Amino acid sequence: MQDLHHLRQVYDKGELLEAQIPANPIELFHDWLARAEKHPQIAEANAMSVATVEEDGCPRTRMLLLKAYMWEGFVFYTNYLSRKGRALDRTHKVCLQFFWPPLEQQIIIKANAEHLSPDLSTEYFHSRPRGSQLGALASPQSSEIPDREFLEQRLEALEKQYADEEIPRPETWGGYIAKPYEIEFWQGRPNRLHDRILYRIADDGSWQSVRLAP
Ligand SMILES: Cc1cc2nc3c(=O)[nH]c(=O)nc-3n(C[C@H](O)[C@H](O)[C@H](O)COP(=O)(O)O)c2cc1C
Repeated sequence: MQDLHHLRQVYDKGELLEAQIPANPIELFHDWLARAEKHPQIAEANAMSVATVEEDGCPRTRMLLLKAYMWEGFVFYTNYLSRKGRALDRTHKVCLQFFWPPLEQQIIIKANAEHLSPDLSTEYFHSRPRGSQLGALASPQSSEIPDREFLEQRLEALEKQYADEEIPRPETWGGYIAKPYEIEFWQGRPNRLHDRILYRIADDGSWQSVRLAP
């Protein structure tokens, strides 16, 4: 056994008190993300873990980039036929998690995911670098493929095919909007007495917050 007992961190970079929190968690998300974006030790503040529910009942996570957010929800893009795409279309359940170690902050969002409108997906698709657009076309995400050559040949063929043309967004690639119903903000504190504030949507659509024990 390799024990990791020596890895021990004191969390003392901030606090999260009821007196400081806004009524709407999206505002707090906005403040925390803005700080994370500016932090010199955080390379991709918008990177998040995205958990879906597999057919065997087991959750599965992977990292994705958050590409937009608004009052209604959190937007990310992927292949609709990928493993996560199929899970999302089957269950609509998703859990997003951000962790910014230098700020000792974590956010966990439970949400229902829906396809973003095709127009918005197309607009975003065309805003991406050409290479990323072709990559999305070339990759049958999450399928088993024989080797790397397979992808490179597909990419080469697509480069020729669309040499002088706009690359069409594949119908199987697009955005999801994850509409939150629970958002937890976690701020590390000394002695493991961390601050945890959980927001939940009430029946009238307003957000209510409670404190959770660490
Ligand atoms: C930092 C980071 C960001 C990523 N962003 C995306 C993304 O925005 N969209 C995406 O489809 N895959 C993204 N990926 C790849 C996914 O983690 C994953 O490998 C891929 O989407 C296939 O997942 P699935 O087979 O579970 O559907 C990213 C990976 C990393 C490490």
